Amino acid sequence: MGDTKGQALFSRCRLRCLTGLLQSKKFWNLWPRERIERRFGAESKACELENKHVMKLRSIDKVHLLSKGFQNLKFTGIMDTDIMTLKLLSTCVNWQKTISVWDRVNSFTGIKYPSMAEYIVAKEIEIKIKALSESFRDSGLSSQILDDLANKACAMDLNYDNVQIEMKKLQQSNLSLVQPECPNSSTVNKTQKKLELKEKNALEKIMYNKLDKRKEEEKVLKYRVTCLRKGDHCFGSQDAAHHFGGELQDQYNWVVDLSHYDLNILLCIMRDELYCGVTLTKESLHHRNITHFGPTTLRATVCYGMIRLGCPNLGDIIVDPLGGGGSLSIEGSNPNLLLFNDLDYDESDALETMLVAEQGVLTFPLTFHLCGDIHPKAVMRTKANISSMEGQQRSKINTLTWDATKLPLRDGVVDLFISDLPFGKRCGSKKGNPHLYTNVVREMARTAVPGTGRAVLLTHDTRSFCK
Ligand SMILES: C[S@@+](CC[C@H](N)C(=O)[O-])C[C@H]1O[C@@H](n2cnc3c(N)ncnc32)[C@H](O)[C@@H]1O
Repeated sequence: MGDTKGQALFSRCRLRCLTGLLQSKKFWNLWPRERIERRFGAESKACELENKHVMKLRSIDKVHLLSKGFQNLKFTGIMDTDIMTLKLLSTCVNWQKTISVWDRVNSFTGIKYPSMAEYIVAKEIEIKIKALSESFRDSGLSSQILDDLANKACAMDLNYDNVQIEMKKLQQSNLSLVQPECPNSSTVNKTQKKLELKEKNALEKIMYNKLDKRKEEEKVLKYRVTCLRKGDHCFGSQDAAHHFGGELQDQYNWVVDLSHYDLNILLCIMRDELYCGVTLTKESLHHRNITHFGPTTLRATVCYGMIRLGCPNLGDIIVDPLGGGGSLSIEGSNPNLLLFNDLDYDESDALETMLVAEQGVLTFPLTFHLCGDIHPKAVMRTKANISSMEGQQRSKINTLTWDATKLPLRDGVVDLFISDLPFGKRCGSKKGNPHLYTNVVREMARTAVPGTGRAVLLTHDTRSFCK
């Protein structure tokens, strides 16, 4: 989490190296405040980084900017009074400062501070677009037909009733395209339902953007408030978000939109403390490298952490014997990575590191990566992911179909093994894991460089690993 520093135009922002961590409740449970302060240093040790550099940190999924924190709040347990307190606190934050930092990262081109008239017009348009895109989403019509319908809807000035009539006609003439009701719909498994919902949401998003014909500079800023809360309060998280956000709307005339928002305001209420800020990242920063996903593809941020743990040296041969889609090798061979990670960050070498990274040096320079998998399909996926990478790095990864328990390698040649073992849930089996793990580790021991060979292995099935 970070903290703004009051400088004109905010060319820099002051950030503590806790970026993204408060976002997860689980993390907060695992890492109480005192422990975070002990590990990362108290406020005085805050480090100053330019936003663009923070965005390049490889072990971070999301970046939030902390605008203000309040401690020792006296929540009374009386709903009206506590809601009033929340509303009051929302006005004690310098939102202009916060928004200007957010804007530097996101380059929002619309209207940041709309007048009441602009708000009313924007709100009306949003309601129309949303209602239409939602009905498109549930229509069961093909995306081609919906595309044409969206064009017509725009020509009809998004007239909801006329578009609905048109849609009904199309549905009747395309009955065959509408999915029949499944007789055993109750037995359709959860994963399938989730996938369907995901597809529907993606379609709605496409339709929403298609129906919105306004120029970027005509759009009014849309926002939502997300509340994370811990402790006993007489209000729920949604109440807090609603009232805190409502006060902001009264003040700035922004449009509330829970799904198609530009700005996510984060409200963290931890017992008698309240922190608020904004999310600087639009998408999780782990969305990188991989174009062809498999059932167990690792997040790039996790891959980065594992490679760091292995402390690769110049010229090391790094092998992932159970490579899946190659995510570990691809992250390990990625250029332009910053060398420091947030956990053992040392302010003194940050600037030097940035300079090195800006010159485009590989993070783990001259390391050679080899990854393989027993399934030819996984190897194909790795190859597809490698071919989506840019030129220079491709030559640093080789991929093979092999059995990790019988590696086609000479004794004592591998400097570092980094691998994500089958957990026995989506891949492999709990029953087979003890045998597989034993044989894989034995093979690693045979092929590792004596004395200096290392391995970083990930598994959730620790019981099988310890057997
Ligand atoms: C947890 S997945 C690895 C996922 C990978 N890190 C990724 O992000 O795509 C484990 C992989 O081990 C492979 N595997 C299982 N047994 C193997 C064996 N004996 N030899 C080689 N690969 C094996 C599976 O096919 C699977 O792709």
